Formats: sequence, structure tokens, C-alpha cells
Amino acid sequence: MFGPKFLVATLLLLSSSTVAFLIPSDQASLADQHRSVQNSRDDLSKIILKSPLLSLHKALVEVESISSYELAVGKLLVSTLEAHNFAVTTQQVNDVNNASLKRWNIYATPDSSQYPSSSSKKQPHPKVILTSHIDTVPPYIPYSLSRPKSSDSREDILISGRGTVDAKACVAAMVQATLSLLASPKTEFNPSDVALLFVVGEETRGDGMNHFSDSKLYHHTNSNLKAVIFGEPTELKLASGHKGITMAHIKAHGKAAHSGYPWLGQSATSMILPALYVLDKLGDLLPEEGGLPRSKEFGNSTVNVGYISAGVAANVVPEFAEAKVSFRLAGGTTESVKKIILNAISGADPQGLLDVDIYQGYAPVPLDTDVDGFDSIVVNYGTDVPNLKVADGVKRYLYGPGSILVAHGKDEGLTVGALEQAVEDYQKLIKHALSL
Ligand SMILES: *[C@@H]1O[C@H](CO)[C@@H](O)[C@H](O)[C@H]1NC(C)=O
Ligand SMILES: *[C@@H]1O[C@H](CO)[C@@H](O)[C@H](O)[C@H]1NC(C)=O
Ligand SMILES: [Zn+2]
Repeated sequence: MFGPKFLVATLLLLSSSTVAFLIPSDQASLADQHRSVQNSRDDLSKIILKSPLLSLHKALVEVESISSYELAVGKLLVSTLEAHNFAVTTQQVNDVNNASLKRWNIYATPDSSQYPSSSSKKQPHPKVILTSHIDTVPPYIPYSLSRPKSSDSREDILISGRGTVDAKACVAAMVQATLSLLASPKTEFNPSDVALLFVVGEETRGDGMNHFSDSKLYHHTNSNLKAVIFGEPTELKLASGHKGITMAHIKAHGKAAHSGYPWLGQSATSMILPALYVLDKLGDLLPEEGGLPRSKEFGNSTVNVGYISAGVAANVVPEFAEAKVSFRLAGGTTESVKKIILNAISGADPQGLLDVDIYQGYAPVPLDTDVDGFDSIVVNYGTDVPNLKVADGVKRYLYGPGSILVAHGKDEGLTVGALEQAVEDYQKLIKHALSL
């Protein structure tokens, strides 16, 4: 199914997994144990290699792609898509911290013979875009396979490693779903109605999706757009919305002194603590008492005082303190939330000594769920959805396999069954979008 490059990679993997053992005879039973573990690993690997979906997913996960360093995985994806006859356009997304880094958004439409990728004006005008991200959070965790003790079934095989869930599962399933629809004789499917978009930088600044949203490529091709299907882990459900986010960076500038004579200085820690204390409780306070918004769909807004730094030593009155706080918003507008935050801070800092910088972010994001056969879920994490500007009436769906609860942790992983279900479900979503 895959192109020549892919085949070579696959053959290399096969040969490196069949390692011969040299074992003394008095350790024969230990050797048997080793051999049986080895055999069961080989069995699992064979299951993965037999499936185009599972081997694409494996190949993507095996290439480290922490945000900013997405070039290698981008190249792999480009060659895979080209091997399947997609017309692929890459967009260089400059990195704010290092101008010499290369990293690409990847935009692909089926059937390269019909639509050469040289000019965005000649590109097809898709009705639906499927999109997810190719960067991951750190640290890299290698790909591994295991079978739960309680089950022998193929669907329950667990695939672990960084990015297995967030979001390489979505990337692999979206590619496979599109290929399956193209190959299916039953579907009335116009290849030029579908586009794939895989972006960089979702886990940090959303710079990949923002770049695409502002690009000529998008502006020249979005006139027929009816729906965008975003891929993030939603446990195989359709998300009905996700919370908004606002962040605050607070700094206090005091005056250093000997800690035996604190009245000769001004403690930056003492200046910042009352404000942090108030902000920390702002999610528990009722909105009518100056607290953050609540709503039926999204529950309570929550606060995380995620970063604090101050001072130099226990016996020095600190000259400087700073904190970074994030607010996950359940309602309101970013303007109204900014006022609530500034009010709360000024109550704790009546003289206005603190330096406050608010990043307004975005309000809660409502999403579409008008597709039969899906459960719905509300999620608390941020996504690229608000970074892609769409015209009024364009539907936005958010769906993916695996759970966000493991996504950024050391146990990130999902089952073969979930990954395969996602291919079916993305096909359903594409067909629904094409019927709009
Ligand atoms: C920037 O990226 C280039 C290319 O990967 C690398 O060689 C260089 O060391 C990086 N510079 C910094 C300051 O990280
Ligand atoms: C919201 O906060 C209130 C008060 O802190 C609490 O009683 C309630 O259970 C919370 N609601 C949700 C949905 O978490
Ligand atoms: Zn993600």
C-alpha cells in the first residue's frame, strides 16, 4: 500500500526486531522465558506491520516532533502523502525563537494529476478540511506495544509513546479515512471536495494554524468550505465545545535589603502574594461576588497559578517577583474576564504597584454536534479551533481517538480498537460534511 520509502523503513524494522540470542545452556529456562516474551513482541509487531493505518501511526510516532522541531515528521508525512498521489503544499512557519529552524504546515488534496500544487489559485476548493497537528509536548517517549493481561483480543493491544494519542492518532486516522473513501466504489466522492491540513506548533503558540489561517493558500481556496473537522483526543466522541483561556503575567518590583532590616527594603514577594491568593480563589467565587463566569455547558472557570519565581536567597529581601496564571473560561467574553481579573488584583493591590500583563486568548468555543451516531463531550483543553478563521455557517467538528487524561503524561497511549474506530468515524464525519 505504501510507497517505496515506506517499504524500506518497514523492512528495516522487521529485521531489527528479530535479534538472535546467545545464551549458555544452564540458563535454558530463562532463555525460554526471553524467547516467549520476544515471540509475543514479534506477534504484536506483525499485527502493526500488517495494517497500513497502524504502520503509518507507528512511523509517525517513531519520529520525534516536539514543538519547533517538526521538520523530520513533516518530511515523512509529505513522502507518505505523495506516495498516495496527493498534491502536497508545504508552508514554512517561522519559529519565533529561532529564525533558522525549518518547520512545515502540510496541506494535501487527493489526485495530484488533476491539481498540480504549483499555484494556490489553481488549487481545488474543498468542502471539508480535516486538520490536526504534528507537534507534541516534551519529553519524547519511544513507541511501544503491550497486551493487557486481561485480554487476548487484537483491539485491546495498547500502543504507547509520545504523540500516540495527541495527535498522531488523529493524523494517521484522517489520512487512512480519506484513502478509504477514495478507494470505496460505493461512495459518491469528489476527490477535490476534501483537503488534509497538518500544522505545527499547536502545543505552544498555535503559530502553525494562525499562519495557515492568514495565508493566500487558505484565502484562495476556502470559498466552498462547509465544514472543518479538527482532530484532538475526545474519546471517540464529538466535542460540543471547549473552554476558553486567558493568561496573566504579574510582576512586582521591590527593593533589596538585608533580611534583618526588612524595613529598609520592599519585599516583591509580599507585594505579589495577596494578588496571587485572590486569583487562586477566583474560580470558587460566585460571579455576582466578582468571581469568574460559569455556565451550564462548561461548568466553572478554573485558575492555575502555574509559575512563580522570586528573590535570590533566604536572607535577602527580594527585589523582584513574578507569576504566570492561566484561567480556563467557562463563559463570558475575554474583555469581561479581563475586567474581573484586574478588579480582583486591584482589590489586593490598592496602590497599583504590580505590573500586570493580560493575554486575552479566547472565549469558550462552541462546536457543532449535528451528526447522528456520536456521543458528545465537553473538553477543558485548548485547541487550534479558534486559530482558524472561518466564515459564518461553516461547521466545526472536534473528534479524535484516545483520552486527553493521558495525552501529555508519561503513560500516553491508546488501543488498536480506538484507532481503527476513528477511521470509521472520520469517514462518517466527512460524508456528513459533504452532504451539508
Ligand atoms: C537554531 O536552529 C538551528 C537549526 O536547527 C540550529 O543549528 C541552531 O543551533 C539553533 N539556534 C539556537 C540559538 O537554538
Ligand atoms: C463550581 O464551584 C462551586 C463552588 O466552588 C461548586 O460547589 C460546584 O460543584 C462547582 N461546579 C462544577 C461543575 O464543578
Ligand atoms: Zn493536541
